[in-house]
Amino acid sequence: MDKQIVLLPGDGIGSEVIHSARQVLDAVTERFNHTFTYHTHDIGGSAIDKHGTPLPQDTVSACEQADAILLGAVGGPKWDQNPSHLRPEKGLLGIRKALGLFANLRPIKGFPQLLHASPLKHEVVEGSDLLIIRELTGGLYFGTPSERSHDGKSVVDTLAYDRSEMERIIDNAFKSARLRRKHVTSVDKANVLESSKLWREVVEEKKAEYPDVTVEHLLVDAAAMKLITAPTQFDVMVTENMFGDILSDEASVLTGSLGMLPSASIRDDGVGLYEPVHGSAPDIAGQGIANPLAMILSTAMMLRHSFHMKEEAQVIEDAVQQVLEDGYHTKDLDVKGGQLVGTVEITKQVIEHVTSQDATKSIQTC
Ligand code: NAD
Ligand code: IPM
Ligand code: MN
Repeated sequence: MDKQIVLLPGDGIGSEVIHSARQVLDAVTERFNHTFTYHTHDIGGSAIDKHGTPLPQDTVSACEQADAILLGAVGGPKWDQNPSHLRPEKGLLGIRKALGLFANLRPIKGFPQLLHASPLKHEVVEGSDLLIIRELTGGLYFGTPSERSHDGKSVVDTLAYDRSEMERIIDNAFKSARLRRKHVTSVDKANVLESSKLWREVVEEKKAEYPDVTVEHLLVDAAAMKLITAPTQFDVMVTENMFGDILSDEASVLTGSLGMLPSASIRDDGVGLYEPVHGSAPDIAGQGIANPLAMILSTAMMLRHSFHMKEEAQVIEDAVQQVLEDGYHTKDLDVKGGQLVGTVEITKQVIEHVTSQDATKSIQTC
């Protein structure tokens, strides 16, 4: 199958993990006889340096024409003091908004081999398997006004949502729950925020359409606590933009590292931008030690969601699992024993498994 994929490496470890993901995809395309064509474009700090803007029009146009987009990460200290419109993060927010990618799916599933890599107790983490669905194009991130007063002594950010924006993400959560264990936890701050009160009303209304799905409401502060004390009680967790941002980094602790969490930013027609949950990690950029598995697992999400290539996605996920079973891990994972390796080596191990599963398969089918 011929697919056009836009690569947005971005900044810091973004280009390192995108390089790994591309190599893994090359192994998959070879195995399954697909043709993927890649188009690399600038975003974030590197786009500011080259084009004077974090989101060049050329990048937006390429993404609009693509079948799917892979994004590494944006940001870094070099641009931290820039005015708001010239921050790398504006590029990421801009492309999500321009493409209407309102649903950010962040699956969190502990790999059995990494149970001891989490600082949480083994018995707390074991069996956790949840999906955080984060609203991605509304809320505090996009509300106006968002500015400082002329005298610099006061500021305002605006948390704004339309009912329709809430309806579509909450609907997405119910639909996702039907494909899983049929339980939705809606997270809000309805004891304080007007937006959360409306959010709760919409959830209550929607649940009538999904009688087979159970629903609970949880305040965000309690949700933050339960996520790391009783993570197995969650199936699908749906929440607004900023709560979802914070809770998903917290949830990465269940998997042992932020470097393990993939995500899909999608809309209803299957177009998607696939991005790890982590950032550009300036503290380790350029050292060859970044964990590429979150990015590699994001490509598996792309294959499944945008291209309906279930088997191909499974091959990547199985390869990652096998690499961990073999004891290979990067420095961010606090694993005793096994083989501590860098980005290049762990990618090579994933590719070997993608290829050797092929060999096993051909033996079986002969
Ligand atoms: P970060 O996610 O970049 O890093 C947090 C910590 O996790 C660091 O210690 C880092 O070394 C480690 N880490 C993250 N990913 C890793 C990986 N794949 N392998 C090994 N270790 C990994 O968050 P931060 O330091 O708060 O932010 C740095 C920059 O990244 C900021 O400019 C921020 O705005 C940006 N950011 C971008 C995205 C994105 O592009 N999607 C996401 C989050 C943060
Ligand atoms: C993420 C990041 C971004 C966000 C930043 C870099 C704008 O933290 O993708 O989780 O807050 O959405
Ligand atoms: Mn984040």
